[in-house]
Amino acid sequence: MSRSAHPAGPRHADVLPEGRSAAPADDLNALDPKVWARTVGRDADGVVTVGGLPVTRLAEEYGTPAYILDEADFRERARAWRTAFGADADVFYAGKAFLSRAVVRWLHEEGLNLDVCSGGELATALSAGMPAERIAFHGNNKSPEEIERAVRAGVGRIVLDSFQEIVRVAHIAESLGRRQRVQIRITVGVEAHTHEFIATAHDDQKFGIPLAGGQAAEAVRRALKLDGLEVIGIHSHIGSQIFDMSGFEVAAHRVVGLLKDIRDEHGVELPEIDLGGGLGIAYTSDDDPREPHEIAKALTEIVTRECEAARLATPRISVEPGRAIVGPTAFTLYEVGTIKPLDGLRTYVSVDGGMSDNIRTALYDAEYSVALVSRTSDAEPMLVRVVGKHCESGDIVVKDAFLPGDLAPGDLVAVPATGAYCRSMASNYNHVLRPPVVSVRDGAARVVVRRETEEDLLRLDVG
Ligand code: LLP
Repeated sequence: MSRSAHPAGPRHADVLPEGRSAAPADDLNALDPKVWARTVGRDADGVVTVGGLPVTRLAEEYGTPAYILDEADFRERARAWRTAFGADADVFYAGKAFLSRAVVRWLHEEGLNLDVCSGGELATALSAGMPAERIAFHGNNKSPEEIERAVRAGVGRIVLDSFQEIVRVAHIAESLGRRQRVQIRITVGVEAHTHEFIATAHDDQKFGIPLAGGQAAEAVRRALKLDGLEVIGIHSHIGSQIFDMSGFEVAAHRVVGLLKDIRDEHGVELPEIDLGGGLGIAYTSDDDPREPHEIAKALTEIVTRECEAARLATPRISVEPGRAIVGPTAFTLYEVGTIKPLDGLRTYVSVDGGMSDNIRTALYDAEYSVALVSRTSDAEPMLVRVVGKHCESGDIVVKDAFLPGDLAPGDLVAVPATGAYCRSMASNYNHVLRPPVVSVRDGAARVVVRRETEEDLLRLDVG
């Protein structure tokens, strides 16, 4: 029976998905540090603050909805990854999670490298001063123009994704008189999910070159012969929002197996392996992510062990965390508009954004949490669904959550852990204007990506 067709009168438990606790948190005013950016707290009046600034002031100054980004937290997390992996490894922040010029500068200052996957991301990175040799260029269908731009700029590596691309990049590099450093992205037959991995024939997807059937080995064979390419390593990315390290273990085992085959066949030991990104974060209090130092230790041990067994020198490891760095460092600040109690079901709380600023709930059935942030409340909890202002019933921001029963229009609510894949996947659906990204640090706020305006919309629409 569909939940929307549920007979009248069920209690909360009946309308929540299976396995989801029907009980609200003990204290709805508490802010679980697992899901909130590190400088978030409440001031003496109960107003949530971040970077020393009350959200009420941020809302007044910058409007809502707005993504509020905690710069100190971002830098701390970036640094933690850098430190955890040390000097013998490289951390490439995955720009697709969220990229802006300010972020590029922070990454540069914190000693991280950058993974970009389009001409637009490359342009952003270069315009903010990221040295080209610290950029990796990804993508399953890079255009010849993008490849040329990347080669000309002198990017540190291009990650080759298909047989055609091997030839394409080699040809472009050669015609520019360059030898481009490349990695070859392979699919190792591991499909990773949150809390589980399934070792299936996950070769059925658009990324990479399958290890199966000797295809990856053939790709290396061809690439090694081309003057325009310097093959520096093998790349594997097994998925996203992963908590379980066993998928990486299988991937590392198979990548090292390929390195060994390459050594045996060609007499060369490729110096690098990239294990991609994909480490999970906490979206709700139920999620339990690993710390960067645990991840670094686990990955380094796996690769070292596998290489020792294969009698290979341990290659330089690189990783590409996106979500794990930026995800927890931002929240989306909304103003409550209408509140619609549906008898016996739940209360629909409409906010001034929605699927245009966070498509993840609609697209992946993602779970988020939400809190009243402009004040505290001791009112009884009510089961809510936080929805947006779009003309679509799937326009859900938070599927099931509890908010205080005295919630009123004009209150501010915030959805934590929206730093990754929210602004970067935002749309103009219904000609709703994309929110700004406001960074806060030590009592100061600054717009790093401004709010879209109606003039922006009309400028693109040339009539
Ligand atoms: N490296 C490669 C080659 C990738 O394809 C990705 C993500 C990453 C690194 C970074 O993964 P992360 O550490 O952020 O999980 N839009 C989806 C996620 C798509 C991820 C695509 N590739 C979401 O909102 O969950």
